[in-house]
Amino acid sequence: MKIRVPATSANLGPGFDSCGLALSRYLTIEVIKEDTKWTVEHELGKTIPQDEQNLLVQAAQTVAPALKPHHVKMSSSIPIASGVGSSSSVIVAGIELANRLENLNLTERQKIEIATSIEGHPDNCTPAICGDFVVASYFFSENKPTVHYVKHYFPECRVIAYIPNSQVLTKESRGVLPETLSFSEAVKASSIANVMIAAVLNGDLLLAGQMMEQDRWHEAYREKFVPHLGTIRQIVKRNGGYAAFLSGAGPTVLVLTSEEKADLITYELEQMGGSARIEQLSFDREGVQVF
Ligand code: HSE
Repeated sequence: MKIRVPATSANLGPGFDSCGLALSRYLTIEVIKEDTKWTVEHELGKTIPQDEQNLLVQAAQTVAPALKPHHVKMSSSIPIASGVGSSSSVIVAGIELANRLENLNLTERQKIEIATSIEGHPDNCTPAICGDFVVASYFFSENKPTVHYVKHYFPECRVIAYIPNSQVLTKESRGVLPETLSFSEAVKASSIANVMIAAVLNGDLLLAGQMMEQDRWHEAYREKFVPHLGTIRQIVKRNGGYAAFLSGAGPTVLVLTSEEKADLITYELEQMGGSARIEQLSFDREGVQVF
């Protein structure tokens, strides 16, 4: 059995902790055999545990505490600690692993609720599970945490990821955010997000892109982690792209553009210098898959 989970980009500017997109980079888990202890074989670096401490096993055990140990292989083309949902992909894979090995028949909603409770916010794990564009909200309702979510088709366009070689931990990047925002600032921030989402649903990427660049929730506070964002925005604006925004907690920046502008923008991003990879991606429309 193989489980494949897409990368994701959260926030899209003003959709902080709520909006996310699934992208064409993948984590793959292959189940080799049942074993006497857990082995997560991978070549993803020494900092990632190869035993039951691996997040994959931890997530699987959250779902099925008595799950029998297995030897699994993990491979991934999703950069770690870069703002493109690497941890979410592992959490979602762990939930699906437990689901399949224990024949739990979890529904999409159950998987989403488990993944969100592990991660704390739904904006990466919902598109990792559902694919495409997902708008989600996570709050307490009748004393229990509940996720409300809507999946929708994201209008076809080109996606360019500017992926710095440096890493930013989500915890560190959330640590610089304010504890409170004034009422009037929150109203503005939320109205911008509302228009962004409505424009996406209408297929109007010009307007959606304008709103994506008007975030008031998080990007300004995170500037020190993404000194490259301003320059990327200038390149995108000069060449008629739709938008550039911080992907998740950064440091990756995602650019959305029409097909005809994509190569020129990619070329100019490559000329920026700095230690980063520039990659053209596409949307993953399906979410987690089991083969
Ligand atoms: N919405 C989250 C954040 C995504 O921006 O902190 C983290 O992956």
